[in-house]
Amino acid sequence: MDLEAKKIALRKIPHGVFIVGTHQNGRLNAFTATWLNQASFTPPLVAVGIRKDSHSLAMIQASRVFSINILGKQQKPVAEHFVKPATTSGEKLTGVPHRLGKTGAPILEEAIAHVECEVREIANQAGDHAVVIGEVVEAGVRDKEALALTLADTGWHYGG
Ligand SMILES: Cc1cc2nc3c(=O)[nH]c(=O)nc-3n(C[C@H](O)[C@H](O)[C@H](O)COP(=O)(O)O)c2cc1C
Repeated sequence: MDLEAKKIALRKIPHGVFIVGTHQNGRLNAFTATWLNQASFTPPLVAVGIRKDSHSLAMIQASRVFSINILGKQQKPVAEHFVKPATTSGEKLTGVPHRLGKTGAPILEEAIAHVECEVREIANQAGDHAVVIGEVVEAGVRDKEALALTLADTGWHYGG
């Protein structure tokens, strides 16, 4: 395989930029994610690729819930904040306005929309990310007209 072609081709897949939140034992966490898609209408499922060495995956495996916060076009700084791993930055939610959803996962007040999910499956054998499949059990919209932040808007890459 032409590795450069593989990288370029995979990076041409369009992605959004989201903040995925979760909790475990009273502790909250959230991280910036782009490998996220709807995966079923009925029931409504989403699939998220989550690094096996992230703090969030261990927390999601324990609590079996997560939130997806959809950012608006101007909210790259929010995504920048949540790229940091939990250990080096302490409690990432501190100072970021949020509330707890019905699953206990954090909902960012400035997200243009959000969903909350209960984990239905985790496929984690093959790669360096687990594929976490969640069923959407709650949703909210703050700004119906706002456009969502995309990876292309940020100029960043995650993939290849
Ligand atoms: C643009 C961008 C997109 C990212 N997308 C993902 C992703 O889809 N899945 C993932 O596990 N990590 C992704 N990351 C990396 C996580 O945000 C990063 O590993 C974070 O530190 C994990 O936090 P945690 O250890 O507190 O859970 C992305 C990073 C950037 C810069």
